[in-house]
Amino acid sequence: MPKRLPIDIPQTAEELTAKWLTWSLRGSTGASDARVVDFTTAEPGAGVGVSGLSIRVDLTWEPASPELPDAVLAKFPTGIQTNRGLVESEGCYDREFDFYERFSDDFPIRIPRLLYAVRDPGRAWSSMARQFRVLNRVPNWIARLIGRYTHKMARPTKRRFAMLLEYVDGARVTPLDQVPPEADLQAALGAQARFHAHWWRSPVLREEAPFGWQTCSQVPHIFNGSYAVHRDAVVAEYPERLTADVMRYADWVDANLTAVIDHLNDKMAFLHGDARSDNMLFTDEGLVLIDFGMVSSGRPAWDVAYLLSSALPSGPIARSELQRLCRDYHANLVASGVTSHSLGQFFNDIDLCLGVQIHRMVLMAAVFIGEGYGDATLAELWMTKVIDQLPEELPTIGEVA
Ligand SMILES: Nc1ncnc2c1ncn2[C@@H]1O[C@H](COP(=O)(O)OP(=O)(O)O)[C@@H](O)[C@H]1O
Ligand SMILES: [Mg+2]
Repeated sequence: MPKRLPIDIPQTAEELTAKWLTWSLRGSTGASDARVVDFTTAEPGAGVGVSGLSIRVDLTWEPASPELPDAVLAKFPTGIQTNRGLVESEGCYDREFDFYERFSDDFPIRIPRLLYAVRDPGRAWSSMARQFRVLNRVPNWIARLIGRYTHKMARPTKRRFAMLLEYVDGARVTPLDQVPPEADLQAALGAQARFHAHWWRSPVLREEAPFGWQTCSQVPHIFNGSYAVHRDAVVAEYPERLTADVMRYADWVDANLTAVIDHLNDKMAFLHGDARSDNMLFTDEGLVLIDFGMVSSGRPAWDVAYLLSSALPSGPIARSELQRLCRDYHANLVASGVTSHSLGQFFNDIDLCLGVQIHRMVLMAAVFIGEGYGDATLAELWMTKVIDQLPEELPTIGEVA
């Protein structure tokens, strides 16, 4: 295993010190003489962080200067060990660090400025890629065994990660148990179309970091194993939501998961990958995107379906609302210069993504701790919304005629 860096890296609010803040902010703020002499920590604005520990840090500098930030956002790994293991198995911390280090000066939508990032070294990509290849080929009974003990097997590392970002003050986010206003959804879809179009089919998407990581899952075969083990228990827990019709769709996705994920990973666009309304900050000057732990490349429907499946309220008009907003997104994409991706193909891919989402929710209900959304868990909340958006007919895994 790679060695840890021989320096102190705080991992919680309690471990932060004025000295570390001074030292780590020196490079990006140009504060060669100024020091942080005092600071306080608080929760950031609304929004539940499930994968990380995000802390607002208010700073007192000496000598004070308007050039220096009053506040920064410190981001550390989550302290919930089960979640951390799962989050690390999808490379989320490395993906976010790689994203900011690579793109913080070159992104077509506003993102927080990266002030400082440090992490212990991890395994080489080639070694991880080999591991994914092996896992995707194990016999089914081993996939089920791994699936049954995912939460024990996806063990967290002892690597330390710390990131300091510009604190976006006075921003509004919509937590997942609330419905974003139409204007926010339109702004989000407009932004997605812009960054999707910006790198459409670009060679940039072939770079290893962060684009070696696949959309949705690195190990679909293990997801199959996990689904086989947990499916019936989850259905028994939510009989009203997970009806025979819904499960027919989820089971079809499960039977075709590797092919569906391969299809969705066609390197068409840069994908944010975790496009939920609570990863979007709305300020008076517009939208700021955050939380790049699931960055990847693939079909644009992934980001759009992810956003709309988590944001639109459930109910009888959910499907027509989804389609209306998808049409708006597609018109934005065309207006941004991408004319080769037909509306029919896009709609087909949306339905595939919704299928992957309902499959994910069954797994999430079984293995992920996601509390803090009113009375519901993350999986309950999201599954209820996705179900009402599912189509009546199965989509095509491939190009539509
Ligand atoms: N740069 C920032 N400025 C202001 N608030 C932020 C910033 N980054 C994150 N937040 C707040 O912290 C919450 C969690 O941050 P996020 O990056 O989404 O972490 P996680 O990966 O744990 O979901 C967000 O929903 C938002 O409310
Ligand atoms: Mg988040």
